[in-house]
Amino acid sequence: MNILHITSSSRAGDSASYQLSRHVVERLQARHPQARVVPRDLSETPLPHVDGQYSSALSRASGGEAHAQGLSSLAWSDLLIEELKQADCIVIGAPMHNFTVPSVLKAWIDHVVRIGVTFNATPHGKIGTLPDRPVYIAVSSGGYRTGERARQPDFFEPYLRAILATIGLKSLNFISAEATVMDPEAMTAAYAAVEKELDFVVA
Ligand SMILES: Cc1cc2nc3c(=O)[nH]c(=O)nc-3n(C[C@H](O)[C@H](O)[C@H](O)COP(=O)(O)O)c2cc1C
Repeated sequence: MNILHITSSSRAGDSASYQLSRHVVERLQARHPQARVVPRDLSETPLPHVDGQYSSALSRASGGEAHAQGLSSLAWSDLLIEELKQADCIVIGAPMHNFTVPSVLKAWIDHVVRIGVTFNATPHGKIGTLPDRPVYIAVSSGGYRTGERARQPDFFEPYLRAILATIGLKSLNFISAEATVMDPEAMTAAYAAVEKELDFVVA
């Protein structure tokens, strides 16, 4: 079993979303001792933004030719899509930034949501090509993100649900640490939620 562990906070090991996602990975490893973890730290190794050659290569559907020319952005896309294909389970750690995902995670999305590769455009809309599998998303936010106490819009969760479904990933489980800047119990509650989320999917 392969677990792809994607992290995206600039606060590295101190990060709330890193720690929560690491806890999810550890609990999965406890259930699947043979599991191999593939880390993809998007802050430690930031991705290039997709460039003009990448965009035109996709619109000409000539990815192979562009790749042969050594275009870095397309090569990154190939690598990241391969990591996704090899994963039996995906764990994403991400803070909420300005109501949505951090820009490094958006750059990853731009590399893996690729027409003709991870989705096809059809008369019925975009249809994903990746097999579905469990995706756990450990999300931290400084304020409340959900429920009656939220005082901000949430473009994080609906965006990830829509964009990951586009490539075929629909079994999403969000584990939230909310109000991290004001609630000392935020992490405790989030850790307590992890086991329940794993049981839900395994069941
Ligand atoms: C650039 C930036 C934008 C942020 N935007 C939001 C926001 O829109 N809503 C929110 O609740 N918290 C926001 N925060 C706070 C973080 O989401 C919060 O501190 C979170 O716990 C950080 O997680 P981390 O430790 O994994 O980086 C923002 C923080 C930064 C640095």
